[in-house]
Amino acid sequence: MRRGLAANKLVLLIVTTCISFHLTYISSSCVPHERDALLAFKSGIIRDPSGRLDSWRQDDQDCCRWSGVQCSNQTTSHVIKVEIRGQDGSIPEFLGSLKNLNYLNLSGVPFSGRVPPHLGNLSRLQYLDLSAMGDTYSTDVSWLTRLNALQYLNLYGVNLGSVNDWAQSLNMIPSLRVIDLSSCSLTNANQSLLPYINLTNLEELDLSYNYFDHPIATCWFWNITHLKHLNLWSTNLYGMFPIALQEMTSLQFLDIAQPFGRKPNCIMTTSLRNLCKLQVLDLGGNLLYGDITEILEKLPQCASNNLQGLYLQRNSISGVLPNSMGRFTSLINLYLSFNHLTGPVPYEIGMLIDLTHLYLHRNDLDGMITEKHLYGLKSLKQIFLSYNALKMEISSEWQPPFRLERAAFASCIIGPLFPSWLKFMVDIHYLDISNTGMAWYLNISNNQVHGGLPANMESMSLQQLYLGSNQLSGPVVPMPMSLTILDLSRNYLSGYLS
Ligand SMILES: *[C@@H]1O[C@H](CO)[C@@H](O)[C@H](O)[C@H]1NC(C)=O
Ligand SMILES: *[C@@H]1O[C@H](CO)[C@@H](O)[C@H](O)[C@H]1NC(C)=O
Ligand SMILES: *[C@@H]1O[C@H](CO)[C@@H](O)[C@H](O)[C@H]1NC(C)=O
Ligand SMILES: *[C@@H]1O[C@H](CO)[C@@H](O)[C@H](O)[C@H]1NC(C)=O
Ligand SMILES: *[C@@H]1O[C@H](CO)[C@@H](O)[C@H](O)[C@H]1NC(C)=O
Ligand SMILES: *[C@@H]1O[C@H](CO)[C@@H](O)[C@H](O)[C@H]1NC(C)=O
Ligand SMILES: *[C@@H]1O[C@H](CO)[C@@H](O)[C@H](O)[C@H]1NC(C)=O
Repeated sequence: MRRGLAANKLVLLIVTTCISFHLTYISSSCVPHERDALLAFKSGIIRDPSGRLDSWRQDDQDCCRWSGVQCSNQTTSHVIKVEIRGQDGSIPEFLGSLKNLNYLNLSGVPFSGRVPPHLGNLSRLQYLDLSAMGDTYSTDVSWLTRLNALQYLNLYGVNLGSVNDWAQSLNMIPSLRVIDLSSCSLTNANQSLLPYINLTNLEELDLSYNYFDHPIATCWFWNITHLKHLNLWSTNLYGMFPIALQEMTSLQFLDIAQPFGRKPNCIMTTSLRNLCKLQVLDLGGNLLYGDITEILEKLPQCASNNLQGLYLQRNSISGVLPNSMGRFTSLINLYLSFNHLTGPVPYEIGMLIDLTHLYLHRNDLDGMITEKHLYGLKSLKQIFLSYNALKMEISSEWQPPFRLERAAFASCIIGPLFPSWLKFMVDIHYLDISNTGMAWYLNISNNQVHGGLPANMESMSLQQLYLGSNQLSGPVVPMPMSLTILDLSRNYLSGYLS
């Protein structure tokens, strides 16, 4: 039984992965040259448990009919694509002899072991994707420097932990546009590695999920002013942001966040005012301290503001939200939760007509949230205000311009009347209004409310709860002890009432 399960798992792995590569040569219907290359490739495959290569036979001349092989439909039907699902074992060294390859993609194939330096023979290669394979490693990447047409390199997950000169090697390939060395166990990205930068075409650099643990300012890539995309998520770089960052005016995406559970490391000293193209800035969980007004003043101040995602959650940011919030008119996601923000929420937040996610929970905000804060938020889908000292004062006749999917107002003061505007929220599937000082009477009958009952109902101080004629489903959760009337009729609930 156990064996059977393991075999199934293997099959699943195999059918969900594939190798693909493009051959550049042009020839008449399946020339021997191409055929030989494919047969040689087959001989390099250690195992073919699913028999995918069975049709690749010495005695069959027309390789265009072999499974996974695709030829051009022109009169000269050269092989244009080879796609093979599910080979495991190690990366065949023979791939290095397919000299005309310009595209090699082994992403997700469960190969393991050493990446053969033979790949360095593929001098026409433009795309090399070795991401997310099995347990692969390389102890010497000098073979990369021979790939002098390479534009795209993805080694995500290949262990390069013992390679110290990876940056020097990449610097020998000026054609590179995209480098992804995420999760490569790299230990150093220090400038001392690289006195002069050759990478004049580089647009995307992803070094996320490597543990550098040295000052962020001494990294080698800050002078690449044409970089558009820089990902340093979970790299444990620390200290003050480098001055050079203020010149990186091509940046569209900058991620220097730390994952949940890691300590924050960085101090935002550098102005990003001239980064007019910046769309996403993620500093979540990585700022040691900061005042919200000062931080926002360092953000792009351009005629057209392109910032769509601002992620500053889980930092130790203090201060009062400034009225100038309203100038980030392109914002879609605003995450300021888990900070020490104080004071009221400015009305200007209501000017952000594209805002979809507003996360302000777990701060020390106080004051009112009124219709005036919300009337402009036509795109709002998620609003999280829980665990502040906010009071929501919204007229019961008010008809909101948005249709929420998730909302949390736990411990906000909403009551004593039930916020009837919520009845317009027919798409809502998550609602936390626990501990909100709401009245003893709650009637959400006849509302097409669907999904499960919220888990935290027990903490509500309700006496009468009417939830009849909705589309609630799933188990009946523990109800408030204070209840005297409970109507759950005409729903799809199941289980027992305690
Ligand atoms: C040949 O391939 C091209 C590009 O893939 C496609 O647009 C065209 O329709 C194909 N012609 C035939 C006859 O299949
Ligand atoms: C490689 O293949 C994977 C899976 O099919 C795909 O997601 C990825 O975009 C490909 N890489 C390149 C560079 O085309
Ligand atoms: C390919 O590269 C390997 C290692 O880098 C080398 O030993 C081999 O001779 C090369 N093969 C060809 C056909 O050039
Ligand atoms: C820059 O790239 C060229 C071409 O690959 C190479 O010859 C040169 O050594 C590189 N310079 C540095 C400093 O790496
Ligand atoms: C980084 O480089 C600086 C000089 O640029 C040097 O003082 C420092 O020791 C280096 N740190 C590491 C971790 O290599
Ligand atoms: C980056 O620029 C700074 C100042 O503009 C300079 O001191 C430094 O040497 C440059 N670093 C590289 C790697 O080019
Ligand atoms: C609850 O609201 C529904 C719909 O507005 C109404 O028909 C019903 O009478 C109300 N129930 C009570 C007990 O107020």
